[in-house]
Amino acid sequence: MAETTEEVAPTEEARPALDPETAARRAAALAYVRKFGDPVLKSRALPVERFDDALREEIGRMAAIMRDGLGIGLAATQLGVMHRVLVYRLGEDAPLAPLVNPQVEWAGGEEEILEEGCLSLPGVHVDVERPIHVRVRAQDEHGDEISIEASGLEARVIQHEIDHLDGVLILDRTTREQRKLAMRALREAAEAARAA
Ligand code: NI
Repeated sequence: MAETTEEVAPTEEARPALDPETAARRAAALAYVRKFGDPVLKSRALPVERFDDALREEIGRMAAIMRDGLGIGLAATQLGVMHRVLVYRLGEDAPLAPLVNPQVEWAGGEEEILEEGCLSLPGVHVDVERPIHVRVRAQDEHGDEISIEASGLEARVIQHEIDHLDGVLILDRTTREQRKLAMRALREAAEAARAA
């Protein structure tokens, strides 16, 4: 998933000070999300060929975990499912967008650097440079072809999630220095969790 700059870096994270019920629901959802170190996060997902009820159920499950996890994007690989499927929703009132077999068909020359987070990398925020405008070709949950022109946060989230489908994490896209700091923070968090 993804969280971005302002409230969260545009990739997947949540606001502070959640009420206890929301926090518990979020923690339960995030328990399904694979974390850094899990080899599925470095693996390439396979194209979807069957557009059946099982696929639509999978998309529904992804949407529910993303919603409860307070994410704005989620890739199937983050749940250990090696399908080229992603979902995103940029706000509570925005429609859910499932993309199957998504591909960046065109990217504008203009790029920007923004801080991103990822539900698979708890507590990590790093700068990532990405094109501001992209055109993405995909299929919907019924197999119909769709084309999306996206800019800003929407473009960033889609690119972040497509990266997941290719086994690429924000750590692979940031500066060496930030990567080093993030790796150290992840290592310390893992050690603290073991000691607890
Ligand atoms: Ni992510």
